[in-house]
Amino acid sequence: MFSFDFDLEDNIHESTKGVAAAPPAPQSEPVVELPLSHLLDSLPSRISYSPVLIPLSSGKSVTLSRRDLFDARFQLISEGTDDTDAAPGLDFLDAPSDLVPGVYEGGLKTWECSLDLVGYLASLPDSSETRLSGKRILEIGCGTGIPSVFLLSRLFCEQSNVNCHVHLQDYNSSVLELITFPNIILAWYMSPSSAEYRIRRHYRASEDDVEYPPPDPAVAGELSITPVLKNAFTASVAKLGIDLAFFSGSWDSFATRLRSEGTKYDMVLTSETIYRTDSLPALIQLLYQACSAKDVLCLVAAKVLYFGVGGGVSEFTRALQSNALECCGRAETVWERKLGVDREIMRIHWV
Ligand SMILES: C[S@@+](CC[C@H](N)C(=O)[O-])C[C@H]1O[C@@H](n2cnc3c(N)ncnc32)[C@H](O)[C@@H]1O
Repeated sequence: MFSFDFDLEDNIHESTKGVAAAPPAPQSEPVVELPLSHLLDSLPSRISYSPVLIPLSSGKSVTLSRRDLFDARFQLISEGTDDTDAAPGLDFLDAPSDLVPGVYEGGLKTWECSLDLVGYLASLPDSSETRLSGKRILEIGCGTGIPSVFLLSRLFCEQSNVNCHVHLQDYNSSVLELITFPNIILAWYMSPSSAEYRIRRHYRASEDDVEYPPPDPAVAGELSITPVLKNAFTASVAKLGIDLAFFSGSWDSFATRLRSEGTKYDMVLTSETIYRTDSLPALIQLLYQACSAKDVLCLVAAKVLYFGVGGGVSEFTRALQSNALECCGRAETVWERKLGVDREIMRIHWV
């Protein structure tokens, strides 16, 4: 079953028990685009991380690095922003639950279905649809952003310009600053793209106390975030032609912004975002608004039922087919797991 337990010791959210009542949907919040320079400035001088191992159906596995939650908490304490009176938006870091209605929607933890999504994406055969070069990719309600981190870890292995847009959206700017962006920095550091930065360390005598952990995501470690690393990251991203963008705010506002700007994507991903029925119309409108064509790769990974919160696959498919929305879609189950809490990945076809 499903729960909103919140435990700083545990970075992966696993479902155990239900909650008593469905909390209200988060309020409408304006979209704020967080510039890359702001996210780089928000990084602490060191980040600690641990491996996330994702088994694949082929018997192989994918391993990614993810910033430790306790490390994000430590950053806030050392910056003096852990005082919840001074920074009320951050009180979810102390909350006993995974959800603080209207404030925090569980994005600091990696939810199980985001790992399913990585497994599914990794299993897709190479085709014009799955090739990342030249694509515009959006992850909605990204939280720790593990599916995007996986795709970026592939892009960071490329030698030449990939001309790819990877955009990430979450309700909370603090989630994007504290976890999502650090995870992308880690994906870069673990990739061939950071080789020059790592190799040239021998010429940087002034950086004696800098940590250069092995670029192996299977090993936990600490990475020093120096001005040289930030410049090397920015230069790599520019050289590869990767356009990274980060948006905080609610789904209704983001859909309005995409509509007014005419922004579209070729691959739209989301996981563990259909848990609340009253949020479904805004999410579906956003999925629809974001897709550049009726049959682009639009994937929704979710538990079949979110006990106590009301949402789940049937509520989602019903809302998707409802005439109440300006868009109408059909959900095709492309992956499922019937062990413990049933989980699915749906591909959306707009009609
Ligand atoms: C349960 S978490 C899942 C996070 C991540 N996708 C994963 O699977 O690990 C739900 C995410 O959706 C975002 N979210 C939920 N409702 C939202 C809304 N109405 N507008 C914007 N974001 C929302 C939250 O900020 C949160 O990160």
